[in-house]
Amino acid sequence: SGMTALDQGFVNTASTKSKITFIDGANGILRYRGYPIEELAARSTFLEVAYLLIYGELPTKLEYENFAERIRRHTLIHEDLKRFFNALPTHAHPMSVLSSSVSALSTYYEDSLDVHDPEAVELNMIRLLAKIPVLAAYAHKKSIGQAFLYPDNSLEFVENFLKLNFGVLAEPYEVSPVLAKALDRLLILHADHEQNASTSTVRLVGSTEANIYASVSAGISALYGPLHGGANEAVLTMLKQIQESGEGVERFVQRVKNKEDGVRLMGFGHRVYKSYDPRAKLVKESADEVLSDLGVHDPMLEIAMELEQVALNDDYFKERRLYPNVDFYTGIIYKAMGFPTRMFTVLFAIGRLPGWLAHWNEANLDPKNKIGRPQQLYIGETERHYPEDRTYR
Ligand code: CMC
Repeated sequence: SGMTALDQGFVNTASTKSKITFIDGANGILRYRGYPIEELAARSTFLEVAYLLIYGELPTKLEYENFAERIRRHTLIHEDLKRFFNALPTHAHPMSVLSSSVSALSTYYEDSLDVHDPEAVELNMIRLLAKIPVLAAYAHKKSIGQAFLYPDNSLEFVENFLKLNFGVLAEPYEVSPVLAKALDRLLILHADHEQNASTSTVRLVGSTEANIYASVSAGISALYGPLHGGANEAVLTMLKQIQESGEGVERFVQRVKNKEDGVRLMGFGHRVYKSYDPRAKLVKESADEVLSDLGVHDPMLEIAMELEQVALNDDYFKERRLYPNVDFYTGIIYKAMGFPTRMFTVLFAIGRLPGWLAHWNEANLDPKNKIGRPQQLYIGETERHYPEDRTYR
């Protein structure tokens, strides 16, 4: 109709009301359910943050223990689904493996088809929190040709995940507390970010009353792209190219400014933050800590710090208010932890899962929720007629 306004990329249009996450992009503020990200990163745990995002309040000790115990009880993957991994090539990108295996989960849990049964919804959220880290670790093991391990439910959430990734069958594995703490903190920083592309995707798919596995699988697919979660992988590829080409940071930044071949400074810029991303500040602290704790010296960190300095002092980036975002330093930490580059976005997906679930659930519980159905402005051909003398087809 004549009332339709164009807002390409949804720069100004709110798609929903929400109580979950607050962002003030001008001042670099991020809060989950009212709690500042800095306080949660310093004092909470990833599972507690997951509970907070989904249920709206911090759990009591008993609520926390029940939640963690339920997640532990659901970590096993059906043996048939494990064979599904055999059908995929070894070189498969773990993000594709993850989205397809999460989609496949719905075939085992048909109670997920009734999105109006609150007990079934809750159970399937627990199943996703329990199983996605395991599927992610299997995607990793698959990519390096190693045997899948069973979850060890005597371990905490993150410890279990690290063992599934780095433990080797028939060998003992000691989880490093430094590594576990650092990964838990990074997962907290990724846990939600209001209506970003993947979360909006999850809400849109959910708005059709499709099951929660289908919705989360779609979210993983949206996260895969290099402008969104895929940026953490793209940053490392960029740093490697700068190092290997020997062109130097200044020359690379010049190419970005000239928009040569559409090259961007990956890990910089954000739709909402027009000041330093508060998560990037916390990630940068972690990068220094983790690398020195693990005794890793990585020239990539120096290149990244030099890039940041050059960009922050350059008019192109100043005028456009482009600052490092959450993805700028995470890859360097994941690399130091031993994850292959192609696992980086998978780690983002594990972190973002509680946010996806909280948003899917918030929309699902809203009696005013409607199917998401954007309008368009049609600019194609006006009516024309199929030629009467048209003879070939
Ligand atoms: N390097 C160079 N120029 C940039 C960059 C960048 N990283 N980001 C934005 N610009 C320029 C852009 O070319 C445009 O300039 P001009 O007005 O001359 O055409 C201006 O800044 C505004 O950019 P935009 O593309 O209109 O901004 P947007 O809000 O649509 O895009 C973004 C946001 C995150 C997609 C973009 O900044 C970007 O591509 N960054 C690199 C990828 C990245 O790091 N993504 C991770 C985002 S954070 C968390 C996550 O979702 O993973």
